[in-house]
Amino acid sequence: MKRIALVTGALGGIGTAICQALAGDGMTVVANCLPGDPGKDAWLAAQRAVGHDFGIVEGDVADDASAGAMASAVTARYGAVDVLVNNAGITRDRSLARMDPDAWHAVIATNLGSLYNVTRHLVPAMADRGWGRIVNIASVNGVRGQAGQTNYAAAKAGCLGFTKSLAQEVAPRGVTVNAVAPGYIATAMTAAMRTDVLQTLLDDVPVRRAGRPEDVAAAVAFLCSAAAGYITGSTLHVNGGLHMA
Ligand SMILES: NC(=O)c1ccc[n+]([C@@H]2O[C@H](COP(=O)([O-])OP(=O)(O)OC[C@H]3O[C@@H](n4cnc5c(N)ncnc54)[C@H](O)[C@@H]3O)[C@@H](O)[C@H]2O)c1
Repeated sequence: MKRIALVTGALGGIGTAICQALAGDGMTVVANCLPGDPGKDAWLAAQRAVGHDFGIVEGDVADDASAGAMASAVTARYGAVDVLVNNAGITRDRSLARMDPDAWHAVIATNLGSLYNVTRHLVPAMADRGWGRIVNIASVNGVRGQAGQTNYAAAKAGCLGFTKSLAQEVAPRGVTVNAVAPGYIATAMTAAMRTDVLQTLLDDVPVRRAGRPEDVAAAVAFLCSAAAGYITGSTLHVNGGLHMA
């Protein structure tokens, strides 16, 4: 039986690599994107060109009603979701003194509120069937903090508390809940940073390079595998040694 996997924020750098890794492990993969994402058709075509026929579902995971409708649509169209990867995320970096309320609320809603908005609709069916895998994408900066990211670090630290708490709720029902905390990964998110700032951060990475989306995807795929059934409530750090928690 093919497992059904839903990946949020799937059109981005890390999301794309996660979709490909889970498909490589034999899953039916449904990619979530923002409603009306202008890159949707080109992304689907590019994935088909490399042999991946992903499902797609629109939905704003920062919005409770939109996320709920998305969860219902996936289940109706593809069947009950076995594997959920909460990957969608944004940054709006500013020092706290300069951070406007929009930047605070948008980052909390997208990176943390989304976990509530999406997961609660899908976890009951996993528990009922006695098997499920949930992986939440956190960040090294939710573990160690980062100047200019009070909003993002708070959301990602919250993600770890959410992960451990839900893991305890559903462990007896065969559902594992884990987090992956990437360091600096070469995607659109880091491309938006000033190159000198990014280079200074990368100079501190013992592995001496930025991470690749595939480095993160491999960790996610492992946590979603049958072999990882005894791992729950954990955070897997994929940061090239930048922070050893
Ligand atoms: N790139 C890094 O260095 C890095 C490091 C640590 C953690 N992360 C985390 O990894 C995840 C993926 O990041 P990425 O680097 O691939 O970024 P990215 O910007 O390439 O992709 C993020 C994707 O999320 C989507 N998205 C944003 N808001 C959404 C919403 N409300 N609903 C649905 N989709 C939404 C975007 O459209 C985009 O496709 C994020 O959670 C991010 O915080 C990234």
